[in-house]
Amino acid sequence: MTDSEFSLQLDVEWPKIPGNLADVENEITGWYEKLLAGKVPGKDFLGWLNWPLEKHEALLDNINTMASEIQEEADYFVSAGIGGSYLGARTVIEALKAPEVFLNEKPRVLWAGHNISGSYHKTLLEKIEDGSVYINAISKSGTTTETAIAFRLLREKLKEKYSSSEMARRIIVTTSSDRGALIEAAQENGYRSLEIPDNIGGRFSVFTAVGLLPAAVAGVDIKELLAGARAMADRLNSSSDGAREAIHYAATRNAFYRNGGRLEILASFYPELSSLGKWWQQLFGESEGKDGKGLYPAAVNFSTDLHSLGQYIQEGPPDRMETFLCLGEETDTIKVPHSSSSSDGLDYLAGRTLSEINSQALIATRSAHVSGGVPAVSIHLPRLNSAWLGALLYFFQFSCALSALGLGVNPFNQPGVEAYKTNMYRLLGKPGFN
Ligand code: PA5
Repeated sequence: MTDSEFSLQLDVEWPKIPGNLADVENEITGWYEKLLAGKVPGKDFLGWLNWPLEKHEALLDNINTMASEIQEEADYFVSAGIGGSYLGARTVIEALKAPEVFLNEKPRVLWAGHNISGSYHKTLLEKIEDGSVYINAISKSGTTTETAIAFRLLREKLKEKYSSSEMARRIIVTTSSDRGALIEAAQENGYRSLEIPDNIGGRFSVFTAVGLLPAAVAGVDIKELLAGARAMADRLNSSSDGAREAIHYAATRNAFYRNGGRLEILASFYPELSSLGKWWQQLFGESEGKDGKGLYPAAVNFSTDLHSLGQYIQEGPPDRMETFLCLGEETDTIKVPHSSSSSDGLDYLAGRTLSEINSQALIATRSAHVSGGVPAVSIHLPRLNSAWLGALLYFFQFSCALSALGLGVNPFNQPGVEAYKTNMYRLLGKPGFN
């Protein structure tokens, strides 16, 4: 795989080009130099930048060995985590294996701790009642309430099913190597552990064990995923010319914001990228939305959402831009069948593939929205495989850091997330929060 294969093509259509785009692009190029020099706000959390360029053979082999054991033995692999400790893994699995609704391979990957719903977790615990279960609790801090509740529930379930040594064998924690409740539990009970590096924040952690173990269990080629990220990292870190698409995307978002834009919609026509939309929302939302600034990141799944949100996007307030994910080549060859009856009016489509129809729907939607005054960015991916997905995720991480820096905020913290937690702790009577 050569780096030149990863020239992620970025087309931008601007119905109303803001006069200052070139100036903003120069500014973002300045931030690019500072980012590479490590001279930016949040500089202690830049571990993600070079992570794919570093050697991780031992880690990848360890994860693949664990994954083979789990694939052999487990009916269910329950991954407990939230935010950056959950969305990356789910994105990768759904994009490369199947949309959630069709995921039923053994072991079935199930998600816990990304909500506090009693009915959700009751159903989950019932589902894993019969069958062989492994658990992966993922939390960098080890103190996140949602994950901690799920982990306690899951451990109690495992206690009912297995001896203590068997239970210990079936629990893997992914967490900070030296602090927090998860690593303490692992040390006390003999659980296996995988490390989340201190200098990598949750939403930038998909290429660490956080994303890699669940992905490997689901059968994803994690070496290829990382190879794609590495090729993209190589290019983006090489020079501002190599990073021109990332700089351009960050500058486009910034220029739009500075000209009154308030919303960026990530539009995909592929249900398997639905979780990628949620991952992208978290990446940009938590990195940029602070100090009263930032575009609201909203992900949509077309053409489904064209029948709910399409009207708003076409004719709503003029404060939204849209970024389209375009896949060059879908693998399906399913065609609209010929039929003896033409009463459904579909004869003009008979014999044509759904991929072709989907592609035309994308082109038609983009041009309708552009003519409705919505600036459109299109990110073209030649195909959806492990390497290209790795490249795309790294591209978004890099562009997001630049875009947030252009807004003048620290991309790598999330102070605002604490407010709801403090209120919740007070309402629930957590000691020290009265
Ligand atoms: O991006 C982030 O850092 C956050 O979204 C965290 O991933 C999320 O809050 C979960 O934190 P933790 O991994 O400590 O449980």
